[in-house]
Amino acid sequence: MILKVYDDTYKTLRLISKDVDIPLTAKDEKLALSLLKHIKASQNPETREKHKIREGVGLAAPQVGKNKRIIAIHYPTSDNFVTHVLANPKIIKESVRRAFLSSGEGCLSVPRPIEGHVYRHYKITVKAYDVLKKEYVTINATGYEAIVLQHEIDHLNGILFYDRINPLLTFNAYPDAVEI
Ligand code: CO
Repeated sequence: MILKVYDDTYKTLRLISKDVDIPLTAKDEKLALSLLKHIKASQNPETREKHKIREGVGLAAPQVGKNKRIIAIHYPTSDNFVTHVLANPKIIKESVRRAFLSSGEGCLSVPRPIEGHVYRHYKITVKAYDVLKKEYVTINATGYEAIVLQHEIDHLNGILFYDRINPLLTFNAYPDAVEI
C-alpha cells in the first residue's frame, strides 16, 4: 500500500499527536498496518520506481496527515528484520551516552539532504502497545534501532530531525558519542 507522505510544510508534521484507544479501533489498526506496508514497499526498488517514492525505514502517522500516536519501523539486519508497529510509544529510560549516524539522518517528510549529526540517546527503553502482537511490550533498543525509534517518536511530538542539529556544534556536540 502506497500512502501520500506529506512534507515538512504540512501542518500535521508540527502538531502534538493524540494517544489512540487500546485496543485499537479497526480504523487505527488499518492506519498502523498501512504505515508498515508503505515502508516495506519503499524498500522494493521496482515499487519505488513505479510509484516515485523514497526509501525509508520508518513512518509515523503525522507524516500521512493523521495526528495519532502510531509509528511503524522496518529494516533488514544481517540475518533478519527489525519490525515495530507501535501505538502510544513512550520512552521510559534513556542512556546518558549519545549516538549519531555518521551519514546524518533523513526523513520521508524532508525531501532534501540536511547535513549535521543528530545526537540521540544510545540506549532507550520504550513502552508501547505492539499492534502486531496485540499486547503491551517493553523494548530495549541500542544503537541504530534506538535512533530510528527516537526519530519516529519525535514525529509524534511535532519534532523533525533537523530541529536537533545544533548549528554551532553541527559535528561535535558530544565528543564521546557512539558513531553508527
Ligand atoms: Co521522519
